Amino acid sequence: MKSTSSPVGIEVAEPTLSEEGKRRIEWAEREMPVLRLIRERFTKEQPLRGIRLVACAHVTTETANLVRTLQAGGAEALLIASNPLSTQDDVAASLVADWGVPVYAIKGESTETYKSHVHTALDFRPEVIIDDGSDVVATLLKERRSQAADIIGTTEETTTGVVRLEAMQRMGILTFPSIAVNNAQTKHFFDNRYGTGQSTLDGIVRATNILLAGRTIVVVGYGWCGKGVAMRARGMGANIIVTEINPIKAIEAVMDGFRVMPMAEAATVGDIFITVTGNRHVIDEQHFAVMKDSAIVCNSGHFDLELNLDALKGISEGPTQLRRYVEEYSLKRNGNRIIVLGEGRLINLAAAEGHPASVMDMSFANQSLSVEYLIKHRGELKPGVHVLPEEVDTEIASLKLQALGISLDVLTPEQSEYLSSWETGT
Ligand SMILES: NC(=O)c1ccc[n+]([C@@H]2O[C@H](COP(=O)([O-])OP(=O)(O)OC[C@H]3O[C@@H](n4cnc5c(N)ncnc54)[C@H](O)[C@@H]3O)[C@@H](O)[C@H]2O)c1
Repeated sequence: MKSTSSPVGIEVAEPTLSEEGKRRIEWAEREMPVLRLIRERFTKEQPLRGIRLVACAHVTTETANLVRTLQAGGAEALLIASNPLSTQDDVAASLVADWGVPVYAIKGESTETYKSHVHTALDFRPEVIIDDGSDVVATLLKERRSQAADIIGTTEETTTGVVRLEAMQRMGILTFPSIAVNNAQTKHFFDNRYGTGQSTLDGIVRATNILLAGRTIVVVGYGWCGKGVAMRARGMGANIIVTEINPIKAIEAVMDGFRVMPMAEAATVGDIFITVTGNRHVIDEQHFAVMKDSAIVCNSGHFDLELNLDALKGISEGPTQLRRYVEEYSLKRNGNRIIVLGEGRLINLAAAEGHPASVMDMSFANQSLSVEYLIKHRGELKPGVHVLPEEVDTEIASLKLQALGISLDVLTPEQSEYLSSWETGT
């Protein structure tokens, strides 16, 4: 891996890629009309003027447009990767060259480099942190607690990060407000479901070029992401099996028309396994041990611990690299080959480009408005996990509909009155 480290504070793989990155960033922007409207307002109003802000995010074209929006609002922004495999090097190069953003992100960086970038971000002494998975906030609370006093607030992009923040809150160590962007309806209803649904399959297909039609795909976890993956994989002609631990989600999967069974059983029949649980070791040694020859296993949950790859290594030979992002292990007991994609990291970002811009438009509108909200309400919000007011969610949805040229009905005064009354019945 080639890398450029410079005293002006950047670490990107290949600065010469900036032109390609710029073209892709500007194309993505066309699919992000809500974010664009926010950027135009931010340019005029400067609500983030002088704020030191760190964003830890997947360095994609959509994130570049988020950073441009924050900059337009007056923030001094620094960007680091939120995953060692999710950076698009051309985008990182363009952000540095074309928008003067300090970026520390290299596709394929080691875990050590990733962690050192988290510290570089904290050396910037941020007042606002945009986190994706809560690694920056967790590092601050574990290793650099004195900096908590500088923090106006943080925002969190993903389900796993919110789960971690809630655990910090229960322990009483979260001493600043954190907005759970993931929990906005205009985020997880769309990004987690349609974004992850489409881009996960995109990642699998780009990595392998396999036909999905007629395959048995096991979707592990039927939350927002799992529903999207199962729905889209069915659309491609696959037979879906869902595994769950939550009875309500399991019955939902059944009524959506999917087979539900425990992993011990699913492991013996699946052709392709996709984990989206946010949980640890949901595919473990005993499951790998009984898989069919050439079963394909991948993850689209936030961290790479959903597959117990150490256990797989313990019971197999290899791996052999078949092609980029595709490694084959051979089970010692029977020679069956297990194929792991993207080293168990989020496959939609490792082998594809993450969610399309059109869906990230709403997620990043939420991010931008959350940062503005934290600053506007500086000193007023209690420490702990917050969600943006519902009106903001509704406003984002309305702007998106407007941009798509779609109108909806409005309540008549008679209907409004009826819906807030109780007198009329049979
Ligand atoms: N790849 C991406 O781009 C992307 C995008 C959004 C979210 N995520 C991540 O994906 C993961 C899932 O997010 P979500 O919003 O769907 O969360 P969610 O909470 O809606 O769903 C997770 C589901 O997994 C189930 N589950 C937990 N342990 C399980 C186990 N052992 N076996 C089977 N099912 C189990 C839960 O019951 C739940 O229904 C998180 O890590 C999140 O951060 C990834």
